[in-house]
Amino acid sequence: MSAPKKLFIKTYGCQMNVYDSERMAEALGGEGYVETKSPDDADMILLNTCHIREKAAEKVYSELGRFKGLKAEKPDLKIGVAGCVAQAEGQEIMRRQPLVDLVVGPQSYHRLPEMEAKAREGEKVLDTDFPEEDKFEKLKNRPKAKRGPTAFLTVQEGCDKFCAFCVVPYTRGAEVSRPADRILREAQDLVERGVREITLLGQNVNAYHGAGANGDMTLAQLIWELDKVDGLERIRFTTSHPNDMQDDLIEAHGTCAKLMPYLHLPVQAGSDKILKRMNRAHTAESYLRLIERIRVARPDILISGDFIVGFPEETEADFQATLDLVEEVKYGTAYSFKYSTRPGTPAAERPQVDPAEADDRLQRLQALLTKQQREVQDSMVGRDVTVLFEKAGRFPGQMVGKSDYLHAVHVADCDRAIGDLARVRILSSGANSLAGALID
Ligand code: 5AD
Ligand code: SF4
Repeated sequence: MSAPKKLFIKTYGCQMNVYDSERMAEALGGEGYVETKSPDDADMILLNTCHIREKAAEKVYSELGRFKGLKAEKPDLKIGVAGCVAQAEGQEIMRRQPLVDLVVGPQSYHRLPEMEAKAREGEKVLDTDFPEEDKFEKLKNRPKAKRGPTAFLTVQEGCDKFCAFCVVPYTRGAEVSRPADRILREAQDLVERGVREITLLGQNVNAYHGAGANGDMTLAQLIWELDKVDGLERIRFTTSHPNDMQDDLIEAHGTCAKLMPYLHLPVQAGSDKILKRMNRAHTAESYLRLIERIRVARPDILISGDFIVGFPEETEADFQATLDLVEEVKYGTAYSFKYSTRPGTPAAERPQVDPAEADDRLQRLQALLTKQQREVQDSMVGRDVTVLFEKAGRFPGQMVGKSDYLHAVHVADCDRAIGDLARVRILSSGANSLAGALID
């Protein structure tokens, strides 16, 4: 038997890309590839790219440039670009970087084995179609390898919201939900391979409306089906849009024990003028009332969010409204970004905010969010939480896992194994993690 070919995948951007990279590795595994951690000994390099902000795409081009020497040494090395930059730029990538042999958009990953074969024959191959077939169904000849205790599972892809700043509706396409039975089968399979916690993924995950036995199902109904899977202990989902936060999902946060008390619910801005121009279709007030209702259902839920500062025509008063909203919500964690012009999106054509002003606003917002994050984390001290252990710590006998609220927790003198759940009393709060002790 010939030695296996080696595949190096580098993943940028969101959790869905992490999931997609796993599926691509499995698909190419069927063609005799094994993964390697270094591009130096690879026969194929795949960059799974992100297009959400300008810097993300530029990083890909500079990374590609660095492979020039490798390709010169090893003419058989194949270089591919996948993900949202592949979808958005298509042929342009090969024009700008002739080292690239293969360009594959996110909806065509099941065609990767054929594409790889053509690339091996010296062809330049490109596929950025939006085919009808379910790519994940076609990708499912996975080896039954054991896995770590947490996994992502894509249930929905694409988006129909068309926020004025966002490329997702163009790169990932229209909103599509996977049928429930396929998701349940995949969840069962993950559990059999050692997974205890599943994070359901979708660009607009709470818009989920996949086919079930009795018609379309909501995300909450899907979660209740997953709740029945023996051995699955924890369910999370991300990312949600406030307008799709239906009553049954809010209720599930109060009644489904496996659904973790953590919700990523981006608001983007606190000014109604800006929200309107972003085409968000909600107001600051409607978002705040929604958070209130969620906290009635699950008082201890940790709220996470995304923010954009310096959106076109944002004034200091508009920005102040974002700070006011943040003060009111009290976020446990958050991601904040400076607006980045995305060609082809409506906001790209509008008058832009002075970049120095946007930088200053980003700094002020991040200072407030960091302070809140720290306060929420510190408030865990003295409380008892459940921890799912994910790996050994840096010190002998120490284990590290995540609490229900997704805080990293270090436990010393811990006799538990990876994949175990245990009750832990939180003793102290550090820069980015908590420390605790086993209770029983
Ligand atoms: N500029 C800055 N941030 C953006 N996001 C999406 N598009 C842009 C953009 N053009 C942010 C949003 C979104 C997160 C994934 O990325 O906050 O929720
Ligand atoms: Fe982009 Fe999310 Fe808006 Fe969809 S809802 S357009 S993915 S920011």
